[in-house]
Amino acid sequence: MVRKYPNLCKPLQVGRVTFRNRMFSAPMGGTDITNDGCIGPKSTAFYELRGKGGAGAVTVSECMVHPETDGSHAYHLDTSILNSLASATYTADAIRRHGAIPSIELSHSGMYAGTYMTDKNRQKSMHQWGPSDTVRPDGVEVKALTKELITDIVASYKETAALAKRAGFEMIMVHGGHGWLINQFLSPYFNKRTDEYGGSLENRCRFAIEVLKAVREGVGPFFPIEFRMSGSELFEGGYTLEDGVEIAKILEPYLDILHVSAGTYQRGFGDTHPSMFKEHGCNVYLAAEIKKHVSVPVATIGGLNDPAQMEQIIAEGKADIVYMARALLADPFLPRKVMENRDEEIVKCLRCFTCMAERAATSTRRCTVNPLIGREMEGDEVHPAPVKKKVLVAGGGPGGLYAAYTAARRGHQVILCEKEDKIGGILKSEQALPFKHEMYELAGTYELLARNAGVEIRTSTEVTKEYAEKENADALIIAAGSRPLVPPIPGLNGENVVIVNNYYKEKEKVTDEVVVFGGGLAGCECAIHLGMEGKKVHLVEMRSELAPDANVRHRPLLLKEIAKYAEVHTNYRGLEVTGEGVWCENESGEKVLVPGTSVICALGQRSRTDVVENLRDCAPYVAVIGDAR
Ligand SMILES: Cc1cc2nc3c(=O)[nH]c(=O)nc-3n(C[C@H](O)[C@H](O)[C@H](O)COP(=O)(O)O)c2cc1C
Repeated sequence: MVRKYPNLCKPLQVGRVTFRNRMFSAPMGGTDITNDGCIGPKSTAFYELRGKGGAGAVTVSECMVHPETDGSHAYHLDTSILNSLASATYTADAIRRHGAIPSIELSHSGMYAGTYMTDKNRQKSMHQWGPSDTVRPDGVEVKALTKELITDIVASYKETAALAKRAGFEMIMVHGGHGWLINQFLSPYFNKRTDEYGGSLENRCRFAIEVLKAVREGVGPFFPIEFRMSGSELFEGGYTLEDGVEIAKILEPYLDILHVSAGTYQRGFGDTHPSMFKEHGCNVYLAAEIKKHVSVPVATIGGLNDPAQMEQIIAEGKADIVYMARALLADPFLPRKVMENRDEEIVKCLRCFTCMAERAATSTRRCTVNPLIGREMEGDEVHPAPVKKKVLVAGGGPGGLYAAYTAARRGHQVILCEKEDKIGGILKSEQALPFKHEMYELAGTYELLARNAGVEIRTSTEVTKEYAEKENADALIIAAGSRPLVPPIPGLNGENVVIVNNYYKEKEKVTDEVVVFGGGLAGCECAIHLGMEGKKVHLVEMRSELAPDANVRHRPLLLKEIAKYAEVHTNYRGLEVTGEGVWCENESGEKVLVPGTSVICALGQRSRTDVVENLRDCAPYVAVIGDAR
C-alpha cells in the first residue's frame, strides 16, 4: 500500500526498541489516581485507548520520584506501597498489547510541589524545595535543596526508573521542562545557587546530568531515555532558545531522544499548551533549531493535529517525532487513521481546554468532541443492536449527526433531516472565525462519519409532525438545537445589527467601528476576531465579568486576547440600539452611548422547546438531545 503520510508512518529504532511510527502520545495525567498514588483502573483504560488508537509510544504521566520533597504529581512507583508496582505493570501491559511502546514520565515539581494536590491541607503543610531560597509570588516560602537532598533525589530517579523497567515500561521520559524541578535548576531565573549546581550553564545542567546518569544506571544500556525540555522558557529572565541549544548539546551524551516543548506551566501556560489563538505548531521552531545542533532524534509538540502539517515537519527535517496530547483525546485513533490513509475521518481537537479544566473542577477527564474520554472503561465498541429499527433524527447539528452516526453503527436504519440546505447547525457560524476553524470542520467530519456508517441525510427537510408520522419511525431523536436570544430592545432588529450566528453570512454589514452586544463566550470570541480584522471593537456586557461560564483554562487566555482587541464595558445594560451605537445604562445609572455604526447581537441562545413539544408524540421512543434540551 502507498501511505499518504510515509514519514509519519515510518518506524523508528532507538536502542533496542522499535517504535511503529512517529506519532507519540504525550504525557497526560490520568484522573483515577488512588489515594496512595497508584494508577487506578480507569487511568489504565485511558492510556490503553491511546495504544489502541495506534500511537507509536504512549507516555504515562508524571510519576513523582521523591514523595518526601514533592507532593504535586500524584503517581508513585514505590515498593513500599502495596499495589504500586502491580498497577504500573498492568498499565504498561495494557499499552503494549496494542503494539505501542509504553513510556513513563519521571518528574519532580520542586518549588511548585503541591500544585495539583487535592488535599489542600497537606499542600499547606508541605515544604517547597527548589534550587534556591526564595518566596514565590503567591507567598509560599521555598527552601534551597541541600546537597544531601539533591543526592537523595537523584538516587530516587534511579530506583524509580529501575522499577518502571521492571513494570514493563520500555522507555523513560525524564521531565526537564515546563518549570518543574530540573527546569528550575536549568533556569537562570530560578537557580541562584553559587555552588557547583548554579552559575554557569554547565553548572546549571549538573543536576539534569546526574539525574540522567542515575536513570541510565537504573535501566541499563540500550534502553531509551527521553529528556523533555522547554526549548526556551519564553519569559523575561528565563533561558532563551540560544541557551536551549547549549543545554541540548551538553545533555545529549546522556539521552536517546530529545523532546522539545516550550515555556513553563506557571509563567506561560498558553505557550506550553498553545491555545486556539495560536498557530498550530507554533513551537516547532524550537525543536527545529535544536535539531540542527544534535544528532539524537528530536521530538516536537504543541497544538499539532493535522497530519499534513506533521508529515511536513518530519519531511523537512524539523523533527523526527511528533507528540500530541489533546489531539489524541479528541481522536485517540488519529495515528491509526493516518496509517490507514483515512485522515479525513480524524476528529480534530478544538483546543477548548475542557480536558484540563474539568480535571481542575471535578477531577474528571472530559473532551468536548469525544464522549468516550473519561469513560474508557465502559469500552469503545459500539455493539450491534439485537433488533434493527428505523430511527429518524430531526436536526443536523453536531448532536444530531453524532447520534445518527452511533445509531447507524448499531445497525439501525437512520434518516437524518436538516431543515436548512447545509448540515452543521450552529457550527456553521464558526466558519468566519479562523481560530475556531476546527469547530466548523467538526460538522463536516461528523457528517462524513455518519454517511460512511450508512446514515441517509436529507437537507432542506423539516421534520414536522406530519412528516414524522409519515416516516413512521420506531425512534425519533430530536436534535433541533437552539435559536439566538434577541430581547425586545428598541433598534435590535435594525439594519445595522447582525446576529452573531449570522455573521458568516453578513460580514459585509459590519463596519469599522462595531459594538459587540453581549460578553459571553460567543460575543468575546467574535470581538477578538473583529479586532484581529482591524476593526475598532466595543464589547458591552451587563454582568460584571466577561464570559463567566468559560472554563478556567480557556478564560484567562481569552481575556488576554480581549485586552488586545476590544474596549470593554462591563456592568453596562443595553437600552437601545441606534445608527450611532448602543445606548446603555452604566453602574451609576447614567445613560451613555457606546459608539459603533454596526452592532453584533450576542446575547445568548435558547433551546427550541417549541419544536420539541410539537414532536414529542411522533414516535414510540423519543429522545431530546443537545441544545434542544
Ligand atoms: C489533559 C492534559 C494533561 C496533561 N498532563 C501532563 C503531565 O502530566 N505531564 C506533562 O509533562 N505534561 C502534561 N500535559 C502537557 C502535554 O503533555 C503537552 O505538552 C501539551 O498539552 C501540549 O501538547 P498538545 O498541544 O498536543 O496538547 C498535559 C496536557 C493535557 C491536555
